[in-house]
Amino acid sequence: MAEVRIRNTEQRIQGEENVRAFLESQEVLYEHWNAAKLPAELQNKFVLTDEEKSTILATFDDEIRDLAQRRGYRTWDLISLSDATPNLDELLKKFENVHTHTEDEVRAITAGRGIFIIKGTEDVGYFDVELEAGDVISVPEHKAHFFTLMENRQIVAVRLFIETEGWIAHPYADAEFQSK
Ligand SMILES: [Fe+2]
Repeated sequence: MAEVRIRNTEQRIQGEENVRAFLESQEVLYEHWNAAKLPAELQNKFVLTDEEKSTILATFDDEIRDLAQRRGYRTWDLISLSDATPNLDELLKKFENVHTHTEDEVRAITAGRGIFIIKGTEDVGYFDVELEAGDVISVPEHKAHFFTLMENRQIVAVRLFIETEGWIAHPYADAEFQSK
C-alpha cells in the first residue's frame, strides 16, 4: 500500500484511508487495484514479452476502462523498467527533474515499486508517495513532480493519457525544491 513522506517534517502517512485523504487534500487521486489478479508468474517479472504485456493489460482491462471513463483518459500503455533496461541510469537521471505536464500523469503499478516526488501546497512543501503493486495515482496537470524508481529499481506500470501532447514534460525550475 502507498506511503507518503513529507520532506520538511519527515512525517510518514500510512494506511489506505490516511494516504487517500492526504493526497486528496493535495488534489492527487489515489486508488487501489487488486494486484493479486495478475497471474503469479507475472507478479515479479520485469522483462516482458509483448504477449505478457497484453496479458497484464487484459487482466486490468475493467479497472483501466473504468478509470479512463471517469477521468477522460483515452489511451494507455504499459511500461517496464529494470536493470535489464538499456541505459537505465541515464534514463533515471533524465526522470529526476521537477517538471509539469498539461494533463494528469497517471500510473497504475502492476509489479515492483516506484516513487512520485510532488510539490504540495505551501504548508506541506515537497512530499514523496511510495507506490507498490496495486497502487494507482493521478497527479493533476500543472502540479510540479517527478517519478522515479526505488531501491529495487524494478517496476511495471500502466500509464493513461488524454492525448499524446500531454506526455511532454515542461521543466519546472524551483528555488524551493527540497532534494531530500
Ligand atoms: Fe511527469
